[in-house]
Amino acid sequence: MIRFNNSKLSKNKKLLVFVSNTIRKIFGGDRLKRLSGVIISFSRKIYLKNKKQITILDFGCGSMEISKKLEKLPYVKQIVGVDTYYSKFRTNKMVYIQYDDFFKKNKKIFDIVIVVDVLHHVGIDESHIILKKLSKISKNLIIKDHFEYGYFSRQLLRFVDFYANYAYDVNIPKKYYDFNSWNKIIKKSFLKEMEIIKNFQQHDGLFNFILNKKHHFVSHLRHDKK
Ligand SMILES: C[S@@+](CC[C@H](N)C(=O)[O-])C[C@H]1O[C@@H](n2cnc3c(N)ncnc32)[C@H](O)[C@@H]1O
Repeated sequence: MIRFNNSKLSKNKKLLVFVSNTIRKIFGGDRLKRLSGVIISFSRKIYLKNKKQITILDFGCGSMEISKKLEKLPYVKQIVGVDTYYSKFRTNKMVYIQYDDFFKKNKKIFDIVIVVDVLHHVGIDESHIILKKLSKISKNLIIKDHFEYGYFSRQLLRFVDFYANYAYDVNIPKKYYDFNSWNKIIKKSFLKEMEIIKNFQQHDGLFNFILNKKHHFVSHLRHDKK
């Protein structure tokens, strides 16, 4: 994962980030290429329904790497990024807000909320609470997360999460969604799944070999007020 500013990291953590980024570059670990592609394709479908410029909330945005790709689209009007870390990052179209202030202060309604590789860090059993809150401020939620398939794949996901997030003190989950728990969370959140890509290939090369596409899914959830 990337943060806006790595200058506060200890020397050891900086070295770890450098080694990890180099390994990623060499062995097909670029997660942004396909990930931003699929988020753009879902966003475009939502835009095409009304053909009006859209506003996006990037929840758990990290350093807004995916938003930086979305920002380039002419039909994207504004992107708000929310995360737990402090930063004053902003561009013409993007603004970052620290999480603690967000639900208290936000009065905006968004066309889309994207939640990319965040819910398992929140805790899958608690994730319906966040999804319900998010569904109050947007009809469309695009979720990217992981599926586990028993003990071995859970430990593999934990190892990869540890590798990707160790330097940034992000909580490493004890478990991930499977098909059943994901569907239960959707029901508990009073949302409807419009589309799901179950075998989403995120990486190439060695990274794809270690954590193959069955571990990644992208889902479009919708909240229709009755
Ligand atoms: C793996 S990173 C993903 C960052 C970004 N979405 C991306 O895909 O590049 C997970 C992010 O979720 C954030 N996060 C974890 N728990 C959170 C919470 N309860 N509320 C908001 N953000 C949270 C972390 O700070 C971290 O930036």
